[in-house]
Amino acid sequence: MTQLPRPARQQQPASSELAAALNACRRAFLAIALFSGMSNVLMLTGALFMLEIYDRVLPSRSVPTLVALLFLAAGLYAAQGFIDAIRSRILLRVGQSLDESLSLRVYDTIVRLPLKIGNRGDGTQPVRDLDTVRGFLSSAGPLALFDLPWMPVYLAICFLFHTYIGLTALFGAIVLVTLTVVTEVKTRHPTRSATQFAMARNALLEASRRNAEAITAMGMTGRIARRWNDLNRNYIAASGHAGDVAGGLGAASKVLRLLLQSAILAVGAWLVIHQESTPGIIIAGSILGARALAPVDLAIANWRGFVAARQSWQRLERLLSHLPPHSEPMPLQAPTKTLVVHNVAVSPPGEQKVVCQDANFTLTAGKALGVIGPTASGKSSLARMLVGVWTPVRGSVRLDGATLDQWSPEALGRHIGYLPQDVELFPGNVAQNIARFEDPPNPAAVLAAAQAAGVHDMIVNLPDGYDTNVGESGSALSAGQAQRIALARALYRDPFLVVLDEPNSNLDAEGDEALTRAVLGLRARGAIVIVVAHRPSAIAGVDYILVMGKGRQQQFGAKEQVLNRVTAPSAPPRALKVVPGEGGAG
Ligand SMILES: Nc1ncnc2c1ncn2[C@@H]1O[C@H](COP(=O)(O)OP(=O)(O)OP(=O)(O)O)[C@@H](O)[C@H]1O
Ligand SMILES: [Mg+2]
Repeated sequence: MTQLPRPARQQQPASSELAAALNACRRAFLAIALFSGMSNVLMLTGALFMLEIYDRVLPSRSVPTLVALLFLAAGLYAAQGFIDAIRSRILLRVGQSLDESLSLRVYDTIVRLPLKIGNRGDGTQPVRDLDTVRGFLSSAGPLALFDLPWMPVYLAICFLFHTYIGLTALFGAIVLVTLTVVTEVKTRHPTRSATQFAMARNALLEASRRNAEAITAMGMTGRIARRWNDLNRNYIAASGHAGDVAGGLGAASKVLRLLLQSAILAVGAWLVIHQESTPGIIIAGSILGARALAPVDLAIANWRGFVAARQSWQRLERLLSHLPPHSEPMPLQAPTKTLVVHNVAVSPPGEQKVVCQDANFTLTAGKALGVIGPTASGKSSLARMLVGVWTPVRGSVRLDGATLDQWSPEALGRHIGYLPQDVELFPGNVAQNIARFEDPPNPAAVLAAAQAAGVHDMIVNLPDGYDTNVGESGSALSAGQAQRIALARALYRDPFLVVLDEPNSNLDAEGDEALTRAVLGLRARGAIVIVVAHRPSAIAGVDYILVMGKGRQQQFGAKEQVLNRVTAPSAPPRALKVVPGEGGAG
């Protein structure tokens, strides 16, 4: 994941999405606070038991009192154990419920983020961030926070025993709290850089996995491994640094706590010598003093987790407010008539440069357009904009008069078929992939799409026919097979606008013919087809041609006309320019 701009002020409500999810758990937190209160009161058992033994049982030498006290203490300890167990269980459920209410939203943002800021860094970090937050919530860390407010109570009791005992405990508390603050300051930076190195490391790992064949074939394994190792070393160093800081300060706090216990004992002994206190009080005071500081100890021990969770939380908050949930626009009728592209310019997500501009054309139902032009002329960019995944920076794309953003992505998707230049299928079988993972797939619609794409015969020849598993990203199929199945996926449930980006790049003659038949079939049923192509065979079925060059629409018009002009070298370039508006095909 990459740095997101800070959310604008007016997006404030969305930024509280996380807070709202946490707020939904407030009854659970109340319960935890209540149980923490009970647990902390019960925590006095040991100290009071000691006090009674020294100041009552020993002087009176009463065995029945001793036995009764022991049973009472045992009962109270059991109650405390029970309460602590419940407390942990509730906390675990809070983490789960938070995950439950946010995981879909987080997945949604992971898919949408590349469309907004481009494909940078490690895009799956938000899921790990959510894991970190949930993990911290379910750990002992938050319990320390619930115990902290009880510290003053214990200190007050120490003061009740004797001012000197209270003062000693208070001094210890101040030192420990200072240690906590130091831990906070010292772990913040290393924790953040550890996360950044982890993201870079994961991004490289993911790329290596995807390109394993190329890396191996060209002997790049060792070099990539060294790059990975460097990143990994940085990550380990940063997280080790955070661990060292937290570990060192944790050990110091533990020693301090032990020292404090003895210090209180010493102060008490001094008081007894001067006959200002009883032996029971010094021992109880020493236990209580240590008890008062235990939450600080626990807090320091869990501080690293806390800092990591807080940073994850902030990243998630920025992400969610940057990509607020889709509002559900009023459903529109399915488009059936026109596609109007008016003066459109588009930039890749997260980029400033315009890669396709001056696009101007109109197509009516039953028409097909071939988009041709040299490499990097902006053909795929135009295609991405036509299917609504890249938003135009200028101008508009309208289906039956409505701009694409008047549909929700889900609703728009039903009217659009898209075959991307780099086909990827999803883990699952052929039928599921063609049915766009509709659950359950509609067999009749799957068959119809396969027939329309002319790929039915090829599919039934696969080992398991429509049930053949395509493997991860379709890796169990040949490139041409995957492309033809993706064509069927684009045609599933008869979408109105079908955009095919180099649909024949992996096809043989038979595939080419099937493609042309598919385009003609689409036109016959009143769809609009746009085919991006390098090879002329792909545009056999189209009746209009758009020529892209240097990121601009150079020409648009009826196929023969444009092709004649393009192939006639003497034609003056100016005369070739198609005046906007002239390009209407309707
Ligand atoms: N995701 C992206 N981020 C940044 N720049 C991009 C991105 N996608 C495309 N571009 C740039 O936009 C320009 C047009 O790319 P596009 O993919 O549209 O070309 P194309 O005509 O489809 O080329 P080809 O025939 O090779 O598929 C290129 O200069 C490319 O570098
Ligand atoms: Mg392309």
